[in-house]
Amino acid sequence: MKTLKRNGLTLAALGMSAFLIGCEMPPPEVTQNGYRGLAMHQNYNPRLLQQSLDENVPPEAIPAPAPGGPLAKDLYKNVQVLGELTVTEFNRLMVAMTTWVSPEQGCYYCHVNEGFEYDGIYTKVTSRRMLQMTQDTNANWKDHVADTGVTCYTCHRGQPVPAEVWVSDPGPGQPSAMAPTGQNIAAASVAYSSLPYDPFTPFLSQDNDVRVIGDTVLPEGNRRSIKQAEWTYGLMMHMSDALGVNCTYCHNSRSFMSWDQSTPQRTTAWYAIRHVREMNNDYVTPLGEVLPASRKGPLGDPYKIYCATCHQGAYKPLYGAPMLKDYPSLSAPLPEGGTAALKAQSEAQAPAAAEEEAPAQQAKAEQPAAPAPAAAPAEEEAAPEPQAAAPEAAPAEEAAPAQAAPPAPQQQPMQPPPLRYPPPGMMQYPPAPLQYPPPPANR
Ligand code: HEC
Ligand code: HEC
Ligand code: HEC
Ligand code: HEC
Repeated sequence: MKTLKRNGLTLAALGMSAFLIGCEMPPPEVTQNGYRGLAMHQNYNPRLLQQSLDENVPPEAIPAPAPGGPLAKDLYKNVQVLGELTVTEFNRLMVAMTTWVSPEQGCYYCHVNEGFEYDGIYTKVTSRRMLQMTQDTNANWKDHVADTGVTCYTCHRGQPVPAEVWVSDPGPGQPSAMAPTGQNIAAASVAYSSLPYDPFTPFLSQDNDVRVIGDTVLPEGNRRSIKQAEWTYGLMMHMSDALGVNCTYCHNSRSFMSWDQSTPQRTTAWYAIRHVREMNNDYVTPLGEVLPASRKGPLGDPYKIYCATCHQGAYKPLYGAPMLKDYPSLSAPLPEGGTAALKAQSEAQAPAAAEEEAPAQQAKAEQPAAPAPAAAPAEEEAAPEPQAAAPEAAPAEEAAPAQAAPPAPQQQPMQPPPLRYPPPGMMQYPPAPLQYPPPPANR
């Protein structure tokens, strides 16, 4: 009886160790990326690495078109971003965009029966902004994306909504008497640690300092406290997870803070954080106006970008495959003044018709005796002035009748068409971003 039990135990122990060994097939592949003896290396499980390599093969480029021919802006009616392309290059890009973003739905995911120039569908309006975001990235964020650059495929991978996105996370329901702490749940967003489960809102949308170590003797404010450390570590968990690397890919762990002991990749990552913030704030968040509710989180903010959106487990998206070189039109320099000018431009474009019919606005700009008559680019400067003039009530009074008067019939106010949304069957609903581990029963 006793021997039987003992044998059983031995067997169980053997089985257990066989099971544990099975989890990580040795030997791991080790890549040295810092001085020896500092543990600055990356461990790769060859099987998982191979799987990741297989998943990150870019599609083949469509053959380049013959140069020459008419320009898109001369042939088409409503091209605002790609006007300078030749018509053949333009069409080639449309086909590529279809294979990158909506291969199953086709051209009609972004175009409807009213014609290719029609802007009354939210996916087209969104794509135009995405085109600008991609161009901005490739032209102005080389400190991060180098000449490798990005295309729609880097994020979309053949799906209308990228697989890796995030939204501000209110967390699971709390007993009413308890204030939510934002942490202490094994959340997938931070690699199942119990760190704050939404480190993205403070760092990848807002611009809080990513800091732990204070540089003053006494604590100043709460920003460099233990609590702050937890948020910083939450983001770092995501960054490591997203790039498929250890902390030592960027840091020398004897001093996480010190830049002169960090790898060059940490500098790239510093730019990356700023880049992602800009993409979210200047492009994705404003699209909240046109995106349907199914593309938003519980707090109503649209699905946004973080490191995993492009990297998807690779230290360089698609392991550095240079897709951009085949589509140079996706890298366009910004107009003078950078993103701000671009924003002003697109704002100016949207109410272009409204401007014509609203002399009240012009009057407002003229009234505060502006020394600079250039109204268009100085929008930001001009903005506070009407406010200052508001108490005078004069511009408001003038504006009121202008609004009340029915618009002159011959003017045909060119209102943008009300946006249309494809039928739910066509819109692939992505699963909501997984934030918590599944309940034990499903594991
Ligand atoms: C992912 C969205 C998307 C898909 C899919 C798409 N397009 Fe477009 N299309 C756009 C956007 C955005 C514009 C406007 C570009 C600009 O403003 O510079 C546009 C403009 C056009 C125009 C110019 C229309 C005009 O007169 O202004 C044509 C023609 C066109 N697309 C054809 C196609 C064809 C053909 C396909 C399928 C092979 C296709 N598109 C697939 C987003 C898309
Ligand atoms: C840096 C990552 C990134 C790149 C590059 C990118 N997108 Fe997106 N795109 C997103 C994210 C994130 C969303 C989700 C926004 C949402 O639905 O809330 C999105 C949404 C869209 C949608 C709306 C889809 C739907 O069903 O709601 C379209 C269409 C789209 N992108 C087209 C494009 C095109 C065309 C390009 C290339 C010119 C492009 N995107 C490049 C990240 C990206
Ligand atoms: C891809 C590069 C990268 C990886 C991987 C990475 N970090 Fe960081 N880390 C950074 C960058 C960049 C900053 C500074 C961010 C800033 O200043 O905006 C930073 C800041 C920090 C800080 C704050 C230092 C200070 O100045 O107070 C700590 C602590 C830290 N990281 C720990 C970690 C840990 C722990 C891991 C692994 C879980 C990790 N990092 C993984 C790039 C990385
Ligand atoms: C818009 C897509 C995109 C997003 C989002 C993105 N990256 Fe990158 N990243 C790239 C591309 C493309 C490269 C390749 C550049 C190159 O070839 O050197 C890259 C390279 C890097 C590298 C250099 C890797 C190396 O081995 O040299 C680091 C580090 C990095 N990214 C960190 C981040 C971090 C951290 C985030 C999130 C805060 C992030 N990236 C988000 C596109 C992206």
